Amino acid sequence: MNPDIPLQSLLVLDTSNMRETLRIVDRNARGIAFVVDARGVLQGVVTDGDIRRAILRGLSPDNLVTEFMTRKPVTARVGTSPERLIALTSERVKYIPLVDDERRVVDYAAFSHAVHLPVATPVLGGNELRYVTECVLTNWISSQGRFVAEFERAFAKFTGVKHGVAVSNGTVALHLALVLAGIGQGDEVIVPTLTFVATANAVRHAGASPVFVDSDPNTWTIDSHEVEEKISARTKAIIPVHLYGHPADMDPILELARRRHLVVIEDAAEAHGARYKGRRVGSLGHIGCFSFYGNKIITTGEGGMLTTNDDRLADQARLLRDHGMSRIRKYWYEVVGFNYRLTNLQAAVGVAQMERIEMILTKRAAIAARYRELLASDDRIELPVPAPWAEPVAWMYSVLLKEGIARDPIIERLDIHGIDTRPLFHPIHQMPPYAVAERFPVAETLSRRGLSLPTWVPMGDTDVERICKTLSSVLP
Ligand SMILES: Cc1ncc(COP(=O)(O)O)c(C=O)c1O
Repeated sequence: MNPDIPLQSLLVLDTSNMRETLRIVDRNARGIAFVVDARGVLQGVVTDGDIRRAILRGLSPDNLVTEFMTRKPVTARVGTSPERLIALTSERVKYIPLVDDERRVVDYAAFSHAVHLPVATPVLGGNELRYVTECVLTNWISSQGRFVAEFERAFAKFTGVKHGVAVSNGTVALHLALVLAGIGQGDEVIVPTLTFVATANAVRHAGASPVFVDSDPNTWTIDSHEVEEKISARTKAIIPVHLYGHPADMDPILELARRRHLVVIEDAAEAHGARYKGRRVGSLGHIGCFSFYGNKIITTGEGGMLTTNDDRLADQARLLRDHGMSRIRKYWYEVVGFNYRLTNLQAAVGVAQMERIEMILTKRAAIAARYRELLASDDRIELPVPAPWAEPVAWMYSVLLKEGIARDPIIERLDIHGIDTRPLFHPIHQMPPYAVAERFPVAETLSRRGLSLPTWVPMGDTDVERICKTLSSVLP
């Protein structure tokens, strides 16, 4: 049963007769129609069974639908939780009108909506289980063992850098990078306001203050032309974020950093494999930081990686992630380090993921291409257009809804239809720990209008089609 038909094809006016009702029920091929008055207010529900029984009772094709419809059908308020709707629907009650406060029909739920499409899910069908099993069978489950170094080598090669240093997650990768750059109390670090909160949190954890910059309206990443005006005597670093898989415009940032003696730390948590002018992100600044959280391009459950071409930084990173322990003297510490180690178990998953990363990127790119194809002609949706110098990767394929469309009710409606989506991140400057009076109009607009759609490797063409059809049916 395909639930993705427009609501309009399920509606019949209460002034219709049996003949007209039959035509609508026949055309929508769902055996049901919702009876509404001219204002769209629900009067009842009519099924092909009601029509059959009406004919048996002797009613004629000219009788009004209101004479044989069910007057008190099962309904639900719009915004009812998917769990509740799934409970309300059954083989017997397949379609439920969803009504607003004035009992106007604004949507519907259907039995097959129990099929739930998550916004992200990992793909673990390669050697993940085999390698993890090897860790368990050999007892190498902590941060010693062959997989950590193998994962680092594979990821560094993929990114096009000399060194990869595996750590426990993307947030501590950023924190460690800041510590390595000598950033601490009283320093300022320039970050985009539109990013995941970890970018700013890491700066605070290092004792420094994030200074926010607005977004570029096309790439959604840091507006490289606004960075310079935010540089003060206290500025020590810039963290461009390759947001939603699209690289930040690195050349102006790198040039500025050279001129003003600043460190560039790339936050590439969402962009494994993306290229800027042919070079992979994470290889452009002094240090790159990646996340391997479960919803990322590749995952280790939790996990992170620092990437760099600088031997000294890599060496220091290895030292600091392991409490700062001396290489030559056991349990001797000359600096205050951290326990930011990745386990062999996690790295085992990472090695298996790296064996399939090109396939993962190709499949994700195909999903993004299909979204583009299916949504391109809908003028209620604005699709992101990659910059000419960028080869983005499809992390969570995200779009903007037309100005004026309230995004959150769309998310709720998609949820009712079993489709999990996400709003774009909130700009960090709007959240309590970082609140500033300054406005960042581009980031604020993107955040208000942005919607991330399900993007995961095992998705089929029919899933993407269902999402696009449902999205266009719930948009006003
Ligand atoms: C842009 C960005 N930076 C940093 C992080 C932090 O990574 P983690 O969740 O692995 O700590 C994430 C993701 O979670 C992210 O999306």
